[in-house]
Amino acid sequence: MAYNQILEDDTGSEHIIEIKDLCKSFDGTKVLKNITFYIRNNEFITLLGPSGCGKSTTLRIIAGFETADSGIVNFEGKDLKSVPANKRNINTVFQRYALFPHLNVFDNVAFGLKIKKVNKAEIKQRVNKALATVGLADYGERYIDQLSGGQMQRVAIARAIVNRPRILLLDEPLGALDLKMRKEMQIELKEMQRELGITFVYVTHDQEEALTMSDTIIVMKDGVIQQIGTPIDVYNEPKNAYVADFIGESNIVAGTMKKDKEVVLSSGITFECVDPMFPEFTEGIANLVDVVIRPEDFYVAEEKEGRINGTVESLVFKGVHYEMIVKSDDGIEWLVQNVDPSAVGSRVGLYVDPDDIQIMRRSELSPDFGSFGIKHPEARDNENREDVVSDNVVEEADNKPEDKDGEPEVETGVND
Ligand SMILES: Nc1ncnc2c1ncn2[C@@H]1O[C@H](COP(=O)(O)OP(=O)(O)OP(=O)(O)O)[C@@H](O)[C@H]1O
Ligand SMILES: [Mg+2]
Repeated sequence: MAYNQILEDDTGSEHIIEIKDLCKSFDGTKVLKNITFYIRNNEFITLLGPSGCGKSTTLRIIAGFETADSGIVNFEGKDLKSVPANKRNINTVFQRYALFPHLNVFDNVAFGLKIKKVNKAEIKQRVNKALATVGLADYGERYIDQLSGGQMQRVAIARAIVNRPRILLLDEPLGALDLKMRKEMQIELKEMQRELGITFVYVTHDQEEALTMSDTIIVMKDGVIQQIGTPIDVYNEPKNAYVADFIGESNIVAGTMKKDKEVVLSSGITFECVDPMFPEFTEGIANLVDVVIRPEDFYVAEEKEGRINGTVESLVFKGVHYEMIVKSDDGIEWLVQNVDPSAVGSRVGLYVDPDDIQIMRRSELSPDFGSFGIKHPEARDNENREDVVSDNVVEEADNKPEDKDGEPEVETGVND
């Protein structure tokens, strides 16, 4: 298959990695389906998706621990297929640190360099620098079992960066840490990445972590990429109901569009929006769409015609704001966040800035087909209308196997 190498995009950014049409099956089940994306030099890019969606498999193919059935991984313009893992100038940090318990911190970090027969003075200088980078300058003599989880994680990172890789692959590296430590390490990792000028490819199923750290997020589901974009893009302009639901909380309901910049919710309320109709839509016909409204984007006011009028069903204080469920008169339950509380049982009218209404094509990922959003079943009564145009449907995803293998213990991350 011919593949024209593109090493730059229109922003002039260099692509250090280009991945095209990567496919992988295990025991007859497709776990990666035509995965295509590129990684810019010095970028912090995150693969985000639920357990089993193929994040680690993608990473392991980039690292060279796994072989794709088809597709291309190019590193700086060169096909990596025949390059063994230890020659790839790519290092991996795994969730399980795989440190050597019988060695102290210094020797754990020095391990790879010793194997490569780097001279002693250089080893000392590089290991100390790596330990200083991860904030463990005084810990060289300590043994691994004398460290906290967070410190072990730092040693694992030091051991990877001491090899001066061009790319660092991090597979849920903070998964074993408690929440507070994880938040601290998120910020530190991001700073480290900037300082080191290394490209980070990060894997997580934690959307908040992805939003905090990444320059670019790739949202995956069942071996298929759903969206690639900046954190702001995927949050504010999710491509489909799945992304909208996975990235933060959202209200996803049925709606129709008969013309540009106007959407009618299932209850008949018309809201102004900023989106034109999709090209395949027909003017004047109620074309089915999904409407996403983030809980924080509602204005809570008095009930009034043209607003989503309803009754406050619950009220919870969340620190900076209150979270409410408002049941509108058509039976939909809306998740609403507001700095001011509204009493349970009181009547309110909700409205939204046109900017904050996101219109998406309907797909099999829409609320009807899953359990996304807080939505009343009757919200879909538009379905039966005759003038409704049925929309494009995303190809049915294959089933995935129940369980998965862990990383073999032999992969120490010292693969340079
Ligand atoms: N060596 C293997 N043999 C058989 N099936 C595998 C193997 N490795 C992964 N799989 C399967 O491939 C699918 C994708 O696995 P992968 O490890 O890439 O998921 P993941 O997105 O990293 O999930 P998690 O968040 O749980 O780590 C899973 O269904 C898993 O069971
Ligand atoms: Mg994984």
